[in-house]
Amino acid sequence: MFISIEKLQNEIPQSNPDPKAANALQEVLGGKFGEMRVMMQYMFQTFNFRGTAKPYQDLLRSIASEEIGHVELVSYTINMMLEGSTNSSDDPTSLTMSSALDSPNIHHFLVAGQSSRPVDAVGNPFLGEYIYDSGHLPLDLIYNLIAEATGSLQMCRLYQMSDNKAFRATLAFLIARDHAHQKAWAKALELMGVKWSDQIFAIPHFDFSKLPEVKEHMERNLHNQQWTFTNGPSQMSKIFSGESPFGKDQTLEAIDGFPVGFSIPQLPEAPQEFSSGLLQSGIMDKISQKI
Ligand SMILES: [Fe+2]
Repeated sequence: MFISIEKLQNEIPQSNPDPKAANALQEVLGGKFGEMRVMMQYMFQTFNFRGTAKPYQDLLRSIASEEIGHVELVSYTINMMLEGSTNSSDDPTSLTMSSALDSPNIHHFLVAGQSSRPVDAVGNPFLGEYIYDSGHLPLDLIYNLIAEATGSLQMCRLYQMSDNKAFRATLAFLIARDHAHQKAWAKALELMGVKWSDQIFAIPHFDFSKLPEVKEHMERNLHNQQWTFTNGPSQMSKIFSGESPFGKDQTLEAIDGFPVGFSIPQLPEAPQEFSSGLLQSGIMDKISQKI
């Protein structure tokens, strides 16, 4: 079973509304190499695990659980970047939502009431078909490494498209975590006998510390850490420990439990979207009298 902690894994700073960059970030949410994909992929690999190699199953469960929080983080970031992009007047005759016509994703406004969608950056719906779960552990691990490396490559491309603070903060955090996850899957394969050249990973081939927001996370060692994301026993550290499979002089650090986390932003009602729909109808007054 799963429990939820009402925190985000990283802080989302206040930033200007930016529907174009918000739409670009949809690729990280619902794209072929986005967070929904890796969350579901690792979940199914965890649930379908066979055999007695428990440390591998524990590693899968840990990262799968973390990825739920990544989906959460990206959704909130998109919502924060959409907030303020229309006029929050409750006069529907005053073209309060005309800016939606200039957005690359009108569905953010028209379908979702100014919110994230389970789609990629060009509007393709998320597909379960993206998920790779072969039932063959080494193959699954190779595919997981490809998924993290491709995700990281795309996020480094995205980073260069906008300097919106919320956009970059979330990308920087995810780049650092993808880096750790590339190491996790590479280390898991290394224990099976794979020998990595120092030049192959992490992908992209690039000094991540050149991105100032990523550098801050690296100074906290976030790119070498993995939480178990469970309150029960975990054998994850049998894999995620010792020397990093790539990156000289780096040591992998397994940590019990979960990170402290940051407050979840609370977005206001959006009368121009009739969202949440409670204020205008007076339902909110009735509810507040009862609770
Ligand atoms: Fe992730």
